Amino acid sequence: MTFNIEHCKIIDLPKIHDPRGNLTFVEGGNHIPFDIQRVYYLYDVPGGAERGGHAHKWLHQLIIAMSGSFDVLLDDGKGKQRYHLNRSYNGLYVCPMIWRELDNFSSGSVCMVLASNRYDENDYYRDYTQYVETRR
Ligand code: TYD
Repeated sequence: MTFNIEHCKIIDLPKIHDPRGNLTFVEGGNHIPFDIQRVYYLYDVPGGAERGGHAHKWLHQLIIAMSGSFDVLLDDGKGKQRYHLNRSYNGLYVCPMIWRELDNFSSGSVCMVLASNRYDENDYYRDYTQYVETRR
């Protein structure tokens, strides 16, 4: 299967409204098209910082703005799409083989990522030119 940015999308997660505070949940293989093997999060991001700047060979991810907001720029070597994430009940599904850059972090924002596999440096393309070559 050839993955491109059309396979990436905002997923509306379930939201249980409650006067005591709202609740959202994510079930691997149900609300998102993969099982969750890893969770990581970015926090204390200084103003103007950029994260990401790589693609994954086989990793599926869901990116959620748990608090605050930030932008995710997706690029498949042919087209680009920028998403602004600012709702903790929305997740951006990112399929494998998509270059991503995260920027425009608001003060105090938290970016949580649900991932389909454990951390593996061999899964990364960290060089954009090399990544684009593989997409030709
Ligand atoms: P990286 O994936 O480049 O961060 P980001 O995409 O958020 O900018 O990872 C930064 C560093 O953290 C790198 O040295 C690898 C390490 N790391 C882990 O050890 N485990 C993980 O699950 C992740 C995501 C990163």
